[in-house]
Amino acid sequence: MAVFDHSRGGVERRRQSRRSGKDRRIAERRSEHDRRAEPGWEPVKMENIAAVAYDEAGLVAAAIDARTHARARFSSFQVGAALETSTGDVITGCNVENATYGLTMCAERVALFKALSEGHDVFTRVVVVADTDDPTPPCGSCRQLLWEYCGDIDVVLANLSDVKRRMRLSQLLPLPFDARLL
Ligand code: THU
Repeated sequence: MAVFDHSRGGVERRRQSRRSGKDRRIAERRSEHDRRAEPGWEPVKMENIAAVAYDEAGLVAAAIDARTHARARFSSFQVGAALETSTGDVITGCNVENATYGLTMCAERVALFKALSEGHDVFTRVVVVADTDDPTPPCGSCRQLLWEYCGDIDVVLANLSDVKRRMRLSQLLPLPFDARLL
């Protein structure tokens, strides 16, 4: 049975009294269970990643394959995504639409949510594939979530025959809002 530890409030108050200025004001606003000050949220820095394990053509092929599962009966715009982890795993996604339209989920976020729910947490690259001459960049919502969970990863935009653009996520999302600003 969980026993509430009444002593923790006292410990936290003593810790807060040693803080000063802005840190103290932030700490006082937050409950002792608030974990936002812990370092785990930080976007992953590319410098910390040892090696990119998967070749680009293989990632593009995985995204093209995932695209064949797209549920895009309302827009007919089928998208595939492949998210590469630092350990060389590849998690794919396709867009999933529905009759309300607004509940549509992009291929990138499907891949991201699959990856997170399977325990992956360090990412190196994302490939996005659509059957268009112009590259299909991630939408604003996907940029935000990719940034928060993947950091400044490489982004590869391809169609069924060629890679069209390569960039870093920070080029697509300059001046991001993230947990550092909370
Ligand atoms: N879509 C994606 O899956 N990823 C993108 O990067 C852009 C848009 C999807 C959402 C919707 O199902 C369809 O493409 C048309 O917007």
